[in-house]
Amino acid sequence: MDAYNITVVGGAGIVGREFLKILDQREIPVGRLRLLATARSAGKTVDFRGKAVTIEETSDASFTADDHIVFLSASGSASKRYAPMAAANGSFVIDDSSAFRQDPAVPLVIPEINPEDLEWHKGIVSQPNCTTTPMVLALHPIHRVNPLKRIIVSTYQAVAGAGGAAVDGLAAESRAALEGRHEPSGTQKREIAFNAVPQIDLFDADGYTKEEIKMANETRKIFHAPDIAISATCVRVPTFFGHAMTVWAEFTNPVDPDEARKLIATGAGVTVVDDPANEQYPTPMDVAGTDAVLVGRIRKDTSCPGALALWTITDSIRKGAATNVVQVIEEAARRNLIRR
Ligand SMILES: NC(=O)c1ccc[n+]([C@@H]2O[C@H](COP(=O)([O-])OP(=O)(O)OC[C@H]3O[C@@H](n4cnc5c(N)ncnc54)[C@H](OP(=O)(O)O)[C@@H]3O)[C@@H](O)[C@H]2O)c1
Repeated sequence: MDAYNITVVGGAGIVGREFLKILDQREIPVGRLRLLATARSAGKTVDFRGKAVTIEETSDASFTADDHIVFLSASGSASKRYAPMAAANGSFVIDDSSAFRQDPAVPLVIPEINPEDLEWHKGIVSQPNCTTTPMVLALHPIHRVNPLKRIIVSTYQAVAGAGGAAVDGLAAESRAALEGRHEPSGTQKREIAFNAVPQIDLFDADGYTKEEIKMANETRKIFHAPDIAISATCVRVPTFFGHAMTVWAEFTNPVDPDEARKLIATGAGVTVVDDPANEQYPTPMDVAGTDAVLVGRIRKDTSCPGALALWTITDSIRKGAATNVVQVIEEAARRNLIRR
């Protein structure tokens, strides 16, 4: 692979820093690395391959024609402003926010599922929500031979999914609560330590939150299957790293759990950990800091003949975000889609 000049907006964030770690772990050749953030982090340094890189404040002038790759990992509003500018320079732009996920001109890509969608990118490639990625990876091996009809999903999302401040917030709230004080950090809609909060993002008119709507729309876009019926309930829980979810899925034809287990085990990027006789199933702690998508508790949905229930886990900042981005870079490079 050629060496790329890479600019990261949000380079001081929890995903931005993990992205640097994964670039290094996967030995991606990097020419010039530029890390951008707000004035809060400007001037701080981040170590990359033994060199200190100074974080700069982001401005319109930050994006230049020598950026081969721009990774936007900051906020929806920052992405809306800077992604078109970077794409206009000819840079290959990967956006981790929800700003472009439903834009019909922007592919939404998980390399194990729809790498061919990279071919029609027009400068910007979008990155799915950290809950969508593990769910569709777990279901894809069945869906590709027996199309999905309906999904009901409930999530148990770690605070890391809400950024670095939320991780610090849970730690501070937990310490205070153990000393008998309620001190909400303000990083969630309610105090999160020792609690569970059924609101991630804002409510829409129909009573679903935007996080829940994202899961539904992104699944349909990635699978190119606009008719899949999906109802999601997204809940923040007081785990630090590792999103969990229970998924009930109905396919065009009935699926037997043994057959499902075998199919899921063939899926790229997914590992089955499912042995109830020996009380084996995955938990969030099993995936923290790894790229694994683990699937267990695969069984019949007794409320709907032929349907399945399962449980899946992944680290939101790894395969839910930074790892997928690095895999997109690898795949786009293989396909010669990054302008040099
Ligand atoms: N955390 C996850 O599991 C996850 C998963 C999938 C997608 N995402 C998405 O990834 C993005 C980053 O999330 P994160 O969890 O890494 O958040 P984070 O830890 O809060 O970091 C956000 C970073 O973005 C920078 N930033 C914020 N607004 C900016 C602006 N207007 N211009 C330039 N820089 C700006 C911040 O700068 P300062 O350092 O100066 O504050 C910080 O470096 C978000 O779009 C999020 O929705 C996150």
